[in-house]
Amino acid sequence: MLSFNKFRPQGVVANLFNQTRPTLIAPDTFISTRSYSIFQKTLDDPLRTSPTCFAGKTVLVTGANTGLGFEAALKSFGLHAKHVILGVRDVEKGEQAKQRILQTMPQIPLSLSETTRDGNPTSQRISVRKLDMSDYDSIHNFVNELAAKDGPLDVAILNAGVFGVKYEPLSKYGWENDLQVNVLSTALLSLLLLHAKAIKPKTGVLEFVASRRMRTVRLTEEEKNAPSLLEVFNRKQEKFDASRQYQVSKLLLVAFYKSLATRSANLVQGSPIITAVCPGFCQSNLSRGHQGFAADVLRAVLNTFVLRRTEEGARTLVTGTIPEEERHGRFWYDDELHDVMLPDNVGDTQQFANKILQDVITAIQCDTSVPVV
Ligand SMILES: NC(=O)c1ccc[n+]([C@@H]2O[C@H](COP(=O)([O-])OP(=O)(O)OC[C@H]3O[C@@H](n4cnc5c(N)ncnc54)[C@H](OP(=O)(O)O)[C@@H]3O)[C@@H](O)[C@H]2O)c1
Repeated sequence: MLSFNKFRPQGVVANLFNQTRPTLIAPDTFISTRSYSIFQKTLDDPLRTSPTCFAGKTVLVTGANTGLGFEAALKSFGLHAKHVILGVRDVEKGEQAKQRILQTMPQIPLSLSETTRDGNPTSQRISVRKLDMSDYDSIHNFVNELAAKDGPLDVAILNAGVFGVKYEPLSKYGWENDLQVNVLSTALLSLLLLHAKAIKPKTGVLEFVASRRMRTVRLTEEEKNAPSLLEVFNRKQEKFDASRQYQVSKLLLVAFYKSLATRSANLVQGSPIITAVCPGFCQSNLSRGHQGFAADVLRAVLNTFVLRRTEEGARTLVTGTIPEEERHGRFWYDDELHDVMLPDNVGDTQQFANKILQDVITAIQCDTSVPVV
């Protein structure tokens, strides 16, 4: 646990404290910074708001038009980032998100902005860039443009992700959508960013947005012994288990990340800090594929009683980017730094992670040329 936790108020006191304390970030956090879930309200401390300042920094957030990505971009701007880049598949939605951020910012109390903004609010800017995580050409173009125009990033939050409800349609590379977006394309983007040296060495942060629920995956013996887990989970199943598929995609992402971080620490001079976060179970559009009355009722119940607000989840995305070496290769959630723990039955974590990294690289090399870290 990091030392600042010592100074955090605990339990009920924390809730009272945070209820009245304003933050300098999202508009609704002026009202309250505590969790809205009744369970979290009573059982958990509220998550910390950002202790950091992004003044002078360039921050990339993928999937920034909505959900956690939007809130993280809003916070980054509120924390005075010099340049916030919204990586979005739909540029129009990205432009709308940019406008929402710009309209929100005047609500930041002047006293706060004067003390921490680097002199001139208008020196900040937001760019909207096309990034389709179902299309490798789009990912290549995105990284090329970034490297050519923006100089190295201080922070890259790889947030774009999906929770598919159906097996089909497959991506144009023949992959089930969760595997394509959450694993393969996210891996490709990270490798290209590293290869292009598009993130600052040592102090820059490359953050994967993962999910701790990947630990609940139980692989069968047959799955474990298969030559490629990616191939196993890409096969059409008799009945598509959307929830398991999503968790598997996050398991493969975390395994890839773990191996990448280990390799980078061992092999690459001046690697950025490579880290992963889990925002917790949050309100967002992630379940948008689940349609119908029952889904709406369940969503309403979860949103009201169980889930963290999107804004609160996004705090984790932002606090996860504090440039501390100890975060490299570890997992940040609930304001604590954890070792990466994969499901118990996958065997040795590092061996499993290395195997997944190789599988992922093989899969994306089929369709494109990928630098091997
Ligand atoms: N919400 C949770 O409880 C939770 C928990 C743990 C982890 N996470 C992770 O947090 C991240 C953000 O999810 P969220 O909950 O904020 O969901 P969300 O509201 O659905 O946002 C997902 C974002 O990813 C983008 N995206 C999806 N497919 C894309 C593609 N092919 N190319 C480019 N962008 C794409 C979406 O763009 P469009 O709007 O254009 O589709 C959207 O901006 C995901 O990685 C998710 O797995 C969420």
